[in-house]
Amino acid sequence: MVDHMQTSAGQAPQYESSNGGRNKLAVEDRAFHDWYRFVLSYPAHLVREYLMEFCMSEKDVVLDPFCGTGTTVVESKLQGIQSIGLEANRFAQFAGNVKVDWAVNAEVLRDRAESIASNAALRLKNQGIPDSAQDSEIKRTVLQSLPEEQFPLILKNSINPTALHKSLVLLSEIDRYNGQTVHKYFRLAFANALVFKISNLRFGPEVGIGKPRSHVAVIDEWLVEVEKMCGDLRQIDPTAYPFATVKLVDSRDISTALDGTKISAVITSPPYPNEKDYTRTTRLESVLLGFVKDRADLRSMKKTLLRSNTRGVYREDDDDKFVEHIAKVQSIAEQIEAKRIELGKTSGFERMYPRLTKLYFGGMARHLKDLQSVLKPGAMLAYVVGDQASYLRVMIRTGQILEQIGVDLGYEKVRIDNFRTRYSTATKDWLNEEVVVLRWPG
Ligand SMILES: C[S@@+](CC[C@H](N)C(=O)[O-])C[C@H]1O[C@@H](n2cnc3c(N)ncnc32)[C@H](O)[C@@H]1O
Repeated sequence: MVDHMQTSAGQAPQYESSNGGRNKLAVEDRAFHDWYRFVLSYPAHLVREYLMEFCMSEKDVVLDPFCGTGTTVVESKLQGIQSIGLEANRFAQFAGNVKVDWAVNAEVLRDRAESIASNAALRLKNQGIPDSAQDSEIKRTVLQSLPEEQFPLILKNSINPTALHKSLVLLSEIDRYNGQTVHKYFRLAFANALVFKISNLRFGPEVGIGKPRSHVAVIDEWLVEVEKMCGDLRQIDPTAYPFATVKLVDSRDISTALDGTKISAVITSPPYPNEKDYTRTTRLESVLLGFVKDRADLRSMKKTLLRSNTRGVYREDDDDKFVEHIAKVQSIAEQIEAKRIELGKTSGFERMYPRLTKLYFGGMARHLKDLQSVLKPGAMLAYVVGDQASYLRVMIRTGQILEQIGVDLGYEKVRIDNFRTRYSTATKDWLNEEVVVLRWPG
């Protein structure tokens, strides 16, 4: 059971008293959201609650600076409110951007998709690899794979060789439409089918490898996704909905990214200091669709992300200087280091935990400072963040620290809402997922 927590006056959204289903996308919210939704997404109803609480109207622009696959922008658009998303993961930015562009004709989409499907099916048949054949019937020697520099980037066994071959054939047929309006929808439908229906990936919430699929009809799975898009598009008149976009931007550096647009509210969920590599979640589709070409390319993208795991920390990083004066952050870093010594842990990763923690909060401080230049006076902010104990079980109350950093930068504290709570058997403590609500006085 979770209590609703209010730290000061304000009309808070009402939450269920249990966690059941709190983070799930409601069935009635699937339209557009479900074109591609990664495991890190929060639900549409959460966005709706804060749009209502912040009294957003068609005159306002809502910002999600850590946009993921676009829940905030899709939901804002559905509610008739303009929005901008910022995202540093190239595939996620692509996905969010396609999800808010509804200016495509469903019948054209369907027609072109059928033509792609029949061309791909014919090619596979001629190669002796019909889409319907069982994997055991296929000779592996004839299979196409990824280039040498790309193959090691995907998680081992994340896709069967036959499914990979068939996916690459389908993708090459899709790419014949490069430069045409329909192309990006087909690519997103491909990504969705690839990750959730074709690959061996499972999410729970970490990305891992599940039982290998012995056979999957790749083209049919893709067509189902395209048809889902067509169904959603047929329900709406695209001219009746406001503008929304998602830009590829490092949100620690956003002052010039919005071309002068002023923001009335921020609704977002940044990464947490939890050792999660946010590029792994989208690795397979990023590689196949060409968003990550090789290791150097992956590294250059990782450098634009907030530091939230030790594999994504670089020598020249210096975001920690933004929290040198925040006692709570310094004290957590010291506690982690003391624990490391006490436990006799000596690996390079473990030695890096204190620095990572400072870099994470420093990056968030840098973001919150830079954000001020694009906010309207009176702008309201909702940041969904989770407590963490990933670093030698030292408790990091992320929401409370973030609130303190915000207040230090001149934001007004409104309250912290409790979104979800889970019990950590490792720390024998409750970990909160909270919504830190702040106001920018201007
Ligand atoms: C928890 S997810 C957001 C999920 C999102 N609320 C949704 O519903 O899909 C955090 C996102 O922040 C992105 N991110 C991390 N560092 C960033 C940065 N410096 N600038 C922009 N986006 C960043 C990650 O790539 C990830 O997609």
